[in-house]
Amino acid sequence: MNYTGKLKQTVTEKFEYIPKANVQTFGCVQNENDSEKIRGILAQSGYEISDNFEVSDIVIFNTCAIRENAELKIFGNIGKLKALKAENPNMIVAVCGCMVMQPHIVEKIKKSYPFVDIVFGVNSIEDLPHIVYNWYVNNKRQVSNPEVKTEIVEDIPVYRESKSKATISIMYGCDNFCSYCIVPYVRGRERSRKPADILEEFTQLVNEGYKDITLLGQNVDSYGKNLDENIDFADLLNMLCKVEGDYVLHFMSSHPKDITKKVIDTIRDNPKISRQIHLPVQSGNDRILSLMNRRYTVQQYKDIINYAKEQIPDVGFSSDIIVGFPGETFEEYLDTENLVKEINFTQLFTFIYSKRTGTKAATMEDDTSHKEKSERLNRLVKIQQDIFFEYLNSFKGQTVRALVEERKGNTYSARMANTLVVHFESDKENLMDEFVKLKVTGKKGTVLTADLIIN
Ligand code: SAH
Ligand code: SF4
Ligand code: F3S
Repeated sequence: MNYTGKLKQTVTEKFEYIPKANVQTFGCVQNENDSEKIRGILAQSGYEISDNFEVSDIVIFNTCAIRENAELKIFGNIGKLKALKAENPNMIVAVCGCMVMQPHIVEKIKKSYPFVDIVFGVNSIEDLPHIVYNWYVNNKRQVSNPEVKTEIVEDIPVYRESKSKATISIMYGCDNFCSYCIVPYVRGRERSRKPADILEEFTQLVNEGYKDITLLGQNVDSYGKNLDENIDFADLLNMLCKVEGDYVLHFMSSHPKDITKKVIDTIRDNPKISRQIHLPVQSGNDRILSLMNRRYTVQQYKDIINYAKEQIPDVGFSSDIIVGFPGETFEEYLDTENLVKEINFTQLFTFIYSKRTGTKAATMEDDTSHKEKSERLNRLVKIQQDIFFEYLNSFKGQTVRALVEERKGNTYSARMANTLVVHFESDKENLMDEFVKLKVTGKKGTVLTADLIIN
């Protein structure tokens, strides 16, 4: 019997009820995607998936290491389990994901969090039944540095909450080593899944009625580099778009140094691909970009954006920006401000630089105060807010298509292919997870308001 079977037998014997499992995700969509696999494995091993950790028999924290405040928040959440674990010693507390791929964090858990029972690594999800089984059999803490595994394991069961939205990992890891970033250290080397495996998962999702599918990778534009097949990201997009069905295809993230005209042309030629591209720029200053090891210039970034705008008139770009990188002067920061005003991003994710142990930037001199960095962030957020509200206003009176995601009373919330959220009122019952046609009437805060035309 495999360990999934052994674990299922063990929990059936041990519990008089169906035990519950709670998986909490911190970090990016890649982690969300991993959590769906963790839930899939636990559901197959005899657990019922619960969103309430207080009544759960196993609680798993799938963690993120991208910035210090992410880690602090996670430790705060783990700390909250101490009292619960004291009341119920049979509850398993497990921590996995990017944060525990760092030896100093595992040391901290070992020393200061004795109620954490299990630590397991980013690419060890398939070992979970074995690890949990061992805990039940030996009742012994399993907290040590997880191995960095690089092979790709297919056919892990996936537990998806949504009936219409799904993500598919097309590659894992990252080789870019942007100087500020911890991801290459915690997620390992870049490797792509085989196109046939991706196509199979994609086709199955479309056939099951999924309508909003996002391809995931830290750098999707370098898809295929380590494969035997001669295939690049544009080829993959073309292949997937041949699958018949009514759906929108998204992808993230692109890298300005790797996105090609071929990718842009492929988007232009395939109406199923979202016209919204996430293209993180990080800074609007060439010296800082070079120190960040991003390997493009501001001009190269603008060139690809201009090419896309020429080819796809309704294209929109969102981006990530870091302010306060070590040594960034106020003038250099202003270059970022100017770029933001020039490009008119539809959405911007802005971060204050956070020092990550082990990265190149952690060794660089950083003499800007946190107060000054916060001021830069606030300025940028304000500028982007004005751009965003103008962008929202531009939709007034337009007829748009959106996928219904949520209902509260008679207020429905739907998402357009460009990721904007639209609210509308209706007493119809059968709208969830369906595409609807809406006429935009205005905006309320950061969402659009609309009238339902047809569904
Ligand atoms: N692979 C993706 C996303 C990586 S993480 C990409 O390259 O676009 C998402 C964002 O977090 C990054 O784009 C960057 O803006 C931000 N980030 C990464 N490391 C950071 C750090 N040390 N401090 C602050 N922000 C960081
Ligand atoms: Fe980090 Fe750069 Fe890789 Fe993105 S591309 S995950 S920012 S190293
Ligand atoms: Fe994602 Fe955080 Fe890991 S952003 S890749 S979960 S470090």
